[in-house]
Formats: sequence, structure tokens, C-alpha cells
Amino acid sequence: MKKINLAIFLSGTGTNFLSLSKACLDPDYPADIKLVISDRECIGYKLSKKLKYKTILIKHLNNAFDFEKKATHLLKKNHVDLICLAGFMKILSPEFVNNWKNKILNIHPSILPLFPGLGTHKKAIASGMKIHGSTVHVVDENLDSGPIIGQCAINIKSKDNKKQIEERLKKYENILYVKSLEKYIKTFHNVENKNSLKKVEKEYNKVIFSI
Ligand code: GRF
Repeated sequence: MKKINLAIFLSGTGTNFLSLSKACLDPDYPADIKLVISDRECIGYKLSKKLKYKTILIKHLNNAFDFEKKATHLLKKNHVDLICLAGFMKILSPEFVNNWKNKILNIHPSILPLFPGLGTHKKAIASGMKIHGSTVHVVDENLDSGPIIGQCAINIKSKDNKKQIEERLKKYENILYVKSLEKYIKTFHNVENKNSLKKVEKEYNKVIFSI
């Protein structure tokens, strides 16, 4: 099976990256990680180096465009087909997103369209909701928006604090990213297919698994 080339962008602890990297070891999984880009020397960055991925640190640049210029060069040089944002804290410009239209996925720790942006666990607790979750979606020009590929949900227990919820959710979202990416590649990812976004939109409400 032909695997597609992935780049991972990260800024944090790298649990989603690790989960994707384990999945990619399976010959039947449709992707391989070719490049890991980090904007800081975070745990995920160190982990990627330890696992011997091509790991690039792009930091201390004057503006977002310098980051994107450097990243674009690396993505092309490494023949990357698809970018997975995995806890990446920089907001990408509309120009960059448009240049990689339908080729950037993100994982966001809420059941979108609820709670875009930061502080999602606190927001979910404060809202009084009994469930919380994560979403994998195609990235568009707006923050935490774009067609949804998969979602997972956990229950919020009455005594749960932010840290407990975050830890519990991570275990599920790590699986969610692997499953959603596989689904996206097998079903929709076709660089030549202009209708791919439409097809994703049709599946907008399909939950690939829930708890
Ligand atoms: C995850 O909660 C993800 O949903 C969010 O950032 C966090 C990254 O965690 N976008 P990790 O670095 O993959 O452990």
C-alpha cells in the first residue's frame, strides 16, 4: 500500500504525535511521518528527536510569515502530502492554509463547534455540560473551524477538575487522531480530487467513535 507523507507540527507534550507515530509503524496504516516541526523545545520536540524523526525547531523568528516560509520550504523538500497539527500553538495564516487547502488536520480538545480557542476544559466544566470531548477537523482560515472528521466524548464527573478531565480525555483523543487520520486518507485525501472537501462536509456529523 502506498503511504502518504505526513508532517507533524507540535508545541507540547507530544502524546498525539506519539500515538500517530506508533500507528504509522503498521505497514497497513496509510501514512508515514517524514518530518516533525516544533516552535519550541517542548517535550514533544525532544521525544521526536529521541525517536530519530527528522525534527526541526523553528523559533525566535520575527513574524509568523518567517515561520511559514521556512516550514513551506521544509514541507516541499520532504515531499509532505498532509500536515497534522498536534498541539501546535501558532495560528497559521490564511495564505498558508489556502496553499495547503484540505491538507492540514487539527485536533482540538472540545466537541466543536462548542468551545473553540483556549481553556476548553475549564469552559466545559463551567458550562455544566455532562460530556466533553475532542474533535479532529480539516483546518480552514478560521480558528478551530473546518469540516469535522471525527469526534470522541467522555463524561464529566461531578468532582472532576480540569487536570483530571484533560488526562482522561488525552487517552481517547490519542486514539481519535489515529482513527480520524486513517479515515480521512482512505476516504477523502486525494490531491487531485477537487470535491474532497464537499465529501468531508457530507460526513460532517458522523462520529467515528464515542464513549
Ligand atoms: C491536545 O489536548 C490537543 O487536543 C490540543 O493540544 C493538546 C496537545 O497534546 N490541540 P499533546 O501535545 O499531543 O500531548
